[in-house]
Amino acid sequence: MTTMMRAFETGAAAVPSTLATATAPAPVPSVVAEPLTQPAQPEAAPPQGRAIVITSGKGGVGKTTTTANLGTALAARGARVVLVDADVGLRNLDIVLGLESRVRFHLLDVLEEKATLDEALVRDKRSESLSLLAAAQTREKEDVVTAQMTALILELRRRFDYVLIDCPAGIEKGFKNAVAGAQHAIIVCTPEVSAVRDADRVVGLLPNDWRPELIVNRVRPQLVKKGKMLSVDDVNDILRLPLLGVIAEEPGVIVATNKGEPLALDATSETGAAYRAMAAKLAGDAAPPDPRPHDGGAGGWFAKLGAMLGGR
Ligand SMILES: Nc1ncnc2c1ncn2[C@@H]1O[C@H](COP(=O)(O)OP(=O)(O)O)[C@@H](O)[C@H]1O
Ligand SMILES: [Mg+2]
Repeated sequence: MTTMMRAFETGAAAVPSTLATATAPAPVPSVVAEPLTQPAQPEAAPPQGRAIVITSGKGGVGKTTTTANLGTALAARGARVVLVDADVGLRNLDIVLGLESRVRFHLLDVLEEKATLDEALVRDKRSESLSLLAAAQTREKEDVVTAQMTALILELRRRFDYVLIDCPAGIEKGFKNAVAGAQHAIIVCTPEVSAVRDADRVVGLLPNDWRPELIVNRVRPQLVKKGKMLSVDDVNDILRLPLLGVIAEEPGVIVATNKGEPLALDATSETGAAYRAMAAKLAGDAAPPDPRPHDGGAGGWFAKLGAMLGGR
């Protein structure tokens, strides 16, 4: 609790401090004054890890798929990674990772001290350095206290290099809780006008000093070429964010989800390679090749899109 809040609760804030000092008699010290310095307290280690929220506004655009694949790719590079499913009530990150049978406790169990963090963290089957904190399935997003969520993410930043937070759709309390402890955001957007508009709205709700990065997902180059789908440039002419990567529409994503094996581990998959390239970029490695090799489009939709969104 801050000094200001304490003062407010005790009523002290109601007395202007200048008036109080002018009228009150000077206190007479009855005992030797307390030393000004407190004995040194053992301090918790400063958090080293990066907390990144994966968000979009619109549902079904690929946040969970992105969280699972980026986390898997970062862990495969040797980083210590924890994935936090903040989609309370609709959890599915555990399924995408194939870890559903191992989940015993969830995020709210930890926040409500029904389980320790160590009990609730689920170790990935494939990578020692990847862990999952699952969401509760039978609770509401409103049940999560924002300050507790912030403290939890801080604690995870002490233990892991990356804390990737899978955000629920929407801009209500679940979104706010998912963003609360984060320091950076990745926006996932599909080449649809409604997704772009929602992404634009979400960017406007994030802290001003963040520079979120963009992933455009489910791009279909053939449709872009024919002028039937927005191109990556069309999308980013509106959002104007640093482009982290582009993922094509790929039936293998759904197969991988059903198998619980993220494509990021598939050495033969172009989509897997795209996730690995994004992980390299996030980790600060030399810039990978152009993240939109087969986008297929030279735009043409921008004027229409700009008119629909009212520009920025
Ligand atoms: N690039 C892609 N190609 C094909 N299907 C995809 C792709 N990305 C995501 N999907 C599918 O879209 C659906 C929604 O993805 P999901 O990651 O759950 O979205 P969100 O978390 O934003 O709601 C899932 O069935 C997923 O398998
Ligand atoms: Mg999801």
